[in-house]
Order: sequence, then C-alpha cells, then structure tokens
Amino acid sequence: MMKVFRADLLTMKDRELFFIEDAAMLVNEDGKISEIIEFNKLSDEFLNEVSDLRPCLIMPGFIDTHVHYPQTNMRGSWSGSLLEWLMDVAYKEEGKFRNETYSKSIACSFLDNLLSNGTTTALSYGSSFKRADEILLETAYEKGYPLITGMVFMDREVDGNLKVDAQKAYDDHKTLSRKWRKKGRIDVALTPRFAISCTEEMLNVCKAIATDDNDIIIQTHLSESKEEIKKVRELFPESRYYLDVYLKYDLVKEKSIFAHCIHLSDYEWEILREKGSSISHCPSSNLFLGSGLFNYRKARDLKIKTGIGTDIGAGTSFSLLHNAELAYYIQKIQGYNMMPVDLFASITSGAAEVLGLQDQIGTLEKGKYADFVVIAPENDSNFLERYKTEENINEKLFLIIMSGQERLISRVYISGNLAYKKG
Ligand code: GUN
Ligand code: ZN
Repeated sequence: MMKVFRADLLTMKDRELFFIEDAAMLVNEDGKISEIIEFNKLSDEFLNEVSDLRPCLIMPGFIDTHVHYPQTNMRGSWSGSLLEWLMDVAYKEEGKFRNETYSKSIACSFLDNLLSNGTTTALSYGSSFKRADEILLETAYEKGYPLITGMVFMDREVDGNLKVDAQKAYDDHKTLSRKWRKKGRIDVALTPRFAISCTEEMLNVCKAIATDDNDIIIQTHLSESKEEIKKVRELFPESRYYLDVYLKYDLVKEKSIFAHCIHLSDYEWEILREKGSSISHCPSSNLFLGSGLFNYRKARDLKIKTGIGTDIGAGTSFSLLHNAELAYYIQKIQGYNMMPVDLFASITSGAAEVLGLQDQIGTLEKGKYADFVVIAPENDSNFLERYKTEENINEKLFLIIMSGQERLISRVYISGNLAYKKG
C-alpha cells in the first residue's frame, strides 16, 4: 500500500536547495519514494492514506560519516589532547565491550541517540570485540536501522586487552562480512583505527581485505593532531607524510573515508583529490580535543567529498545539526562564511556521496529511501515566531541549524516507517 506524507518539504536538488510548500511525498511498499508533488495535485485515490504532518517541515534524514559506538557512554570526559585522551578515557571505556550485556545496552542507547537526533544512516567504528560488534549489527538489523560498521583493528600502542593480532582481525572481519556485508540496509566497513595502532602486519591484512573486497568502505583517522603526526613519523620513519602510510598499503581509494584531515600538507590534499577519497570533518570533536581548525574551503575548492561526523565520544553531541552549527563557526573564524546550503549538504546529500550511497539516500527524490526528519518549529517558542515570519528558505534553514538541536525534531522515519517519535 502506498503511504503519503503531507508537509512542507526541503531537500537538495542539483546542489541547490529545493523547497516545496505543502508537498505530498508518496512512498511505496519498498520504503522508497515514488513521487513528490504539490499536495493539491494529489489524486483522490490516495486521500485516505495521508499522514498529515503540517505545520512541520520534512527534510532528508541526517547521515553521520564518523561516530564510535563504544564511546557512547563517555562523552564529555575531561582529559588532555588526543593521545592522552585515547589512553586515559577512550581505551578504558572500549575495554568494557568484552561484556555482552554491557554491549547490548550501549548498542540500544547508541541507536536511540542517533534516531532522536534525526540521524538515519551512520558509519560507525565498532569495538575490538567481534561479539560486541555483532550485537550492534543484530540490534540495528532488528530495528531496520541502516548502519555501516566494522570491528576496530589495533595491534599496538594500546592496552593489552584491546589488542587483536593481525590474523585474528582478518578472520573476525571475514566472519562478520560473510554475514553482514550488504545485508538489507546494513553493511560492514574495514576499520583500521589509525596508523599508530596498526603494525605493518595489520596494514598488510587491511590491504589483503581491501584488494579482495574491492568496493568495501575503508574508514580511518588522518592528521588529527600535531602530536599524532609526530608519532606517526617515529613509527613509520620511511614514510614522509602520514597519508603515505595508508598509501603504501593501498588503502587510499574512492571508498576510503579519512576522519579529521586537519593538518594536511599540500601533497596529502592532492593525493586525496587524485584518489577520489573522502573526508569526515568532526567539528565538535576537534574543538573538544583542541585538535585544530579544518580547512573546509580547501576541501571544497579541490572538490573532495566531505561530510560531517559527530565523532562521539571525543565529539560531545549526537546532533548533526549542532555539528553543522559548529562547522560554521570553525570556518567563520578562519574567514570563510559557509552557506546554509553547504552546511545542509554536509549532513545530507554530500554525506551520502561520502558513503557512496548517493543513489539511495541523502535527498528526498523519486527512487530513494524515504528516510526523513520531521522538524516541528513549534517545539521551540523562541524560534517559532522568527521561523514563521521568515520567507526566505535559506534563512529558515540557517535558523534551524543555528538553533536546531534535538528539541526541534518531532519524528524520524526510515524506509517510510516511523522510527522515532518525541515522547
Ligand atoms: N584517533 C584514533 N582513534 C580515535 C578516536 O577514537 N577518536 C578520535 N577523535 N581520534 C582517534
Ligand atoms: Zn574518530
């Protein structure tokens, strides 16, 4: 049976904002959009199927290009900069994922947090424990949540209990892949944590996996802090630049997603462009750890696909709207005044391109999944008056981003099914 949703609708079309006042969005039984039209053009046969969401605004579900499931419970923990924070806080928490009961409870809380913030697809890091990652995959699958994740590979510079030797990492990854790779809307990503925590043997395992499974998403961290770069130099003296480490093991590909990319040399920028790889920019995390200021203008000028990541739990908020707000500040302080449309793209259509899923998600249009967020301006009385009187859609969108945290989101749909409703 066809479902019909009635509301104002905002999406991206041909890299511009596209707004329809009082739209009807028709969704077929596969959970995909079959048509978007003005409501007054809707044929009478569908009038009984209409879910009337007025006076809300619907927009594409947000896409988180970088988040850590096992860090859900450690947001906002006081520590030093990146490498200290990893040792003192992150690895300690991740060690708890040896326990299945704990993993299950965090998997549920992780998915609930994504949903209540309007995130309808996420690329997440798993833990070092295969069972904990399987629990996340199973939980997402049962809920119909489109999740991409992979077991984190680490075999050095980390607490002993999180180390996995290279052969076991290979075997566990293959076991997870056999069951979960492209299973419905779930997928598995190859996830070497970063150069520092991987020996050459581990990087060779990654190379073997990525060669064998040529279109798998590869996610890792790159050039987040100066201290990290220095350590990479020490550990890989033969590599002139950080990215050379990944390059040496054929891990810089079209479906490679590098988080942070704050302190890149021109050489590294050029390699990313040439290889068609993507960047996940993580504003909240970069500010929290004091890692530095990402150069969004450069990514844009070089046409490097870039999306935003919450990077929970160095990032403190699951909200991509809030992270887009912080992205705006980070650019503005560097003299680049980002447009609302570019902020919006970085959490919707642009993020879909980063994941290589632009044919399925990221905009509301015929043939894509009906993953969408229902924004209710009346949930915030301060915001409501300005929203109502503002005619320009750019201004409306900017208002949503600047004040648009969780409270504005009243419902979230995935594949046309209600996945979250505000309490
Ligand atoms: N680099 C390697 N691991 C991590 C992590 O968990 N968080 C952040 N922000 N950077 C990392
Ligand atoms: Zn991260």
